[in-house]
Amino acid sequence: MPVARGFTDRETMSPTVPDEMWIRTIGVVGAGTMGGGIAQVAAQAGFEVVLIDQAEDWLDRGLAAITGSLDKLVSREKLDDRERDAILARIEGSTRIEHLAGCQLVIEAVTESFVTKAEVFTGVAEATGMDAIIASNTSSISISAIAATVPEPGRVAGMHFFNPVPVLSLVEVVRGIQTSDETAAAVSAVARRMGKTPVEVADSPGFVANRLLIPMINEAVSCLNEGVATAEDIDQVMKLGASHPIGPLALADLIGLDVCLSIMEVLHHDFGDDKYRPAPLLRRMVAAGRLGRKTRRGFHTYEAR
Ligand SMILES: NC(=O)c1ccc[n+]([C@@H]2O[C@H](COP(=O)([O-])OP(=O)(O)OC[C@H]3O[C@@H](n4cnc5c(N)ncnc54)[C@H](O)[C@@H]3O)[C@@H](O)[C@H]2O)c1
Repeated sequence: MPVARGFTDRETMSPTVPDEMWIRTIGVVGAGTMGGGIAQVAAQAGFEVVLIDQAEDWLDRGLAAITGSLDKLVSREKLDDRERDAILARIEGSTRIEHLAGCQLVIEAVTESFVTKAEVFTGVAEATGMDAIIASNTSSISISAIAATVPEPGRVAGMHFFNPVPVLSLVEVVRGIQTSDETAAAVSAVARRMGKTPVEVADSPGFVANRLLIPMINEAVSCLNEGVATAEDIDQVMKLGASHPIGPLALADLIGLDVCLSIMEVLHHDFGDDKYRPAPLLRRMVAAGRLGRKTRRGFHTYEAR
């Protein structure tokens, strides 16, 4: 069966190539926490990967983190040295967005700012031509708004991976208003090839996971502020009483309190409903620079690594 993707140069593709095998080279823009993880799992799944960041030092840090993560798998005997080397050889790092030219899919994982993402999408669309699918790993920005920044917006979808990417199996596949059925099917197929489970969701503030998770964290912060229980006890209640693997305040520390606040602000703004009002203590913690694990102090304190 021909691959029906619904935009421009379909006819240049081989009609014998099945949908899910059409994508061989994946570009990842942003070599931070998420982009590095996405590049790693893509290369582990056998894709060729082009990893882009804005400057050499960011890129080097991202590549070093991937190497460290694979080294841990070697030390736990989940990979051997040859497999690790082959995975690393499939990842080409660059600071030049033009190097995405040969990619059939590009996954954007840069800083959570619409302006930054719009600039990156413009650059990616210029580098790749009309037939490449472009996905965003955004946690909260509208996929429909991001898609509107490029020609052929039907080829844009959200691929919302979860942190840590090599460990958590969910990918929320987010359909913007413009996203074509073929694009949604293709990114779901890629997620499956990466060993992930795609779940399709509509483009709505916070999608599903963050709409449920972040207000729960916000409520836990209000409980703490009101003296209902200590941070340790709030976490204990949800671990023992709701079988959560980690308590909400420890989870906030892991995600980053600044990230939690910015998602609450998006929910509050986009729904216009005060039930999403960020907890004042969450704002104060962020203003004080207590952002969680990354600053070694949030609702809990952490040893230097
Ligand atoms: N951290 C999480 O738990 C998490 C979970 C799911 C989704 N996300 C989303 O993933 C995205 C990335 O988050 P992160 O936590 O990896 O951030 P991060 O700060 O760790 O990494 C962002 C990277 O993007 C790079 N970058 C910024 N502007 C760029 C540009 N113009 N061109 C190329 N590279 C650029 C930065 O140098 C940095 O390396 C965000 O949209 C975030 O909302 C994050």
